[in-house]
Amino acid sequence: MSGRDHKKRQKALVTGASSGIGAAFASRLARQGYDLILVARDEARLQAHAEEFRRDHKIEVQVLPADLTKPSECARVEKVAAAGIDLLVNNAGFGTFGSFWRLALEREEEQIRLNVVALVRLTHVALGPMVERNQGAIINVSSLASFQPMPYNATYGATKAYVTSFTEALAEELRGTGVKVQALCPGFTRTEFQQRAGLRISNLPAFLWMTADEVVDASLAALRRGQVVVVPGAPYKALAFLSGLTPRGPLRRLAGLIGRSQFAR
Ligand SMILES: NC(=O)c1ccc[n+]([C@@H]2O[C@H](COP(=O)([O-])OP(=O)(O)OC[C@H]3O[C@@H](n4cnc5c(N)ncnc54)[C@H](OP(=O)(O)O)[C@@H]3O)[C@@H](O)[C@H]2O)c1
Repeated sequence: MSGRDHKKRQKALVTGASSGIGAAFASRLARQGYDLILVARDEARLQAHAEEFRRDHKIEVQVLPADLTKPSECARVEKVAAAGIDLLVNNAGFGTFGSFWRLALEREEEQIRLNVVALVRLTHVALGPMVERNQGAIINVSSLASFQPMPYNATYGATKAYVTSFTEALAEELRGTGVKVQALCPGFTRTEFQQRAGLRISNLPAFLWMTADEVVDASLAALRRGQVVVVPGAPYKALAFLSGLTPRGPLRRLAGLIGRSQFAR
């Protein structure tokens, strides 16, 4: 799906485009010739990316700073998404780690507003015009955490379970149309995610770390194939498969043991 393949250039909106997986999506899509709308809170970082993309790829880039946990700021982005985009990448998200009752309630709620509410609202406004045109795609960035409960990362795991389930359901509603949706479910990826969550992960084998570019390449290749649930990387594919085979009780217990050893605070 290259933007250069069409007379009118295609337009993609990427949330959380200032760093990590979102910045990698923006960079890959710029290279493919998409015009871009970049959303995140850090305007200076978005402007720096925009300047680079305009210079290197001769595309149009709109910088749209917004805190998507705030309804009035999310509404500004919804307006742009509703005006007709070809690809929406709902990527902005964060996680909190520790015993749920010790975590700040306001931050737990913000997590739901960003990872779920903003994603649902943007999907809703973008999807109508896409179905009308019988063309377009939405990538919802979920996580490997969506396949089992996540003790000591409970709200995050639940938001991502929502994203994967929601996206899979939409894929069936959209069957027979030209509109594609994808739940992208990465494992550990080197971005600012862990640092922002105050996590220090020192004992994870190197082969389990993926780069944001690897994750994005797997996602865009899978989008071309029309794959709905995408788990980048062979080790994580195996883990997701095993999660699906394991009965819920033992799976929950195992997740609790891992969570307690890694994330308990
Ligand atoms: N890294 C991993 O191991 C991993 C694994 C599985 C899934 N994921 C998922 O991948 C997605 C991207 O995360 P990442 O790993 O790339 O982490 P990241 O480097 O921390 O990027 C998060 C992005 O979200 C934006 N963001 C945060 N709060 C926001 C808000 N209130 N409003 C608007 N934008 C906001 C951040 O920009 P500003 O600070 O400028 O707003 C940033 O661009 C998330 O949904 C995450 O859950 C990550």
